[in-house]
Amino acid sequence: MTEDFALRRAKAREKLDAIDPHRREGGVAADPRRRDWFEAVYELAGDDPAGVPWAGLAPHPVLAQWLEGRSLAGLRALDVGCGLGDNAEGLAQAGAQVVAFDLVARAIEWAKRRFPQSAVDYVAADLFHPPQEWRGAFDLVHELYTLQALPESLLPDAADALASFVAPGGTLLVISRARDAGQEVAGPPWPLTRAQIEALAVDGLRLTILEDIPASETIVRHWRAAFRREGVA
Ligand SMILES: C[S@@+](CC[C@H](N)C(=O)[O-])C[C@H]1O[C@@H](n2cnc3c(N)ncnc32)[C@H](O)[C@@H]1O
Repeated sequence: MTEDFALRRAKAREKLDAIDPHRREGGVAADPRRRDWFEAVYELAGDDPAGVPWAGLAPHPVLAQWLEGRSLAGLRALDVGCGLGDNAEGLAQAGAQVVAFDLVARAIEWAKRRFPQSAVDYVAADLFHPPQEWRGAFDLVHELYTLQALPESLLPDAADALASFVAPGGTLLVISRARDAGQEVAGPPWPLTRAQIEALAVDGLRLTILEDIPASETIVRHWRAAFRREGVA
């Protein structure tokens, strides 16, 4: 990240925080699912990825490390809340047939513009009202940073939606920032607790691996969790 990019990002972050009702006392009812705010992020960014606070312009390092030496050849993968598409592209590079979706149509158009030759199928869709045909349709469902961007009250519905996409024998992979129970956070975003990660094991999913990845020079503490649905793909 250049100094100029970092400066533009810091300015954008300040502006976005200022218009985020979830950062104001009693503001939650104004935008309960944060739809308006997410729309505003991509609109205000224009064509500058510095304006999209989570855009790393490469697969996230915690996902990239999971993908190292792993082939996803032949797997159907779904990237949830894909933003500008870097993680979806990482999954596709590893061999998966990827569908990637985001609530914000502008993000989807931007991802398509960034990766014009991509094999990823980028789709505008809502996690809480997904297409029927996605039910049980994916061997790998990947979610990074969307859950932590949602108010806690939405997490049970989000868990149900994520689980619904996983095919028999399939995996849900969740990566988020981590915090201890009781640790104060000035969100959003709201890093997840261990209990919130464990609570994603719904609708026949079983938590198989929960990694607590400590903070390093380059990243803050993260969870990387894998859930499996029994059965044969
Ligand atoms: C914190 S960003 C993370 C983006 C991407 N996963 C990344 O790591 O670059 C959360 C993304 O989820 C999208 N999102 C929020 N609510 C959503 C919903 N109900 N359905 C689908 N996408 C949603 C937002 O538009 C945003 O792009």
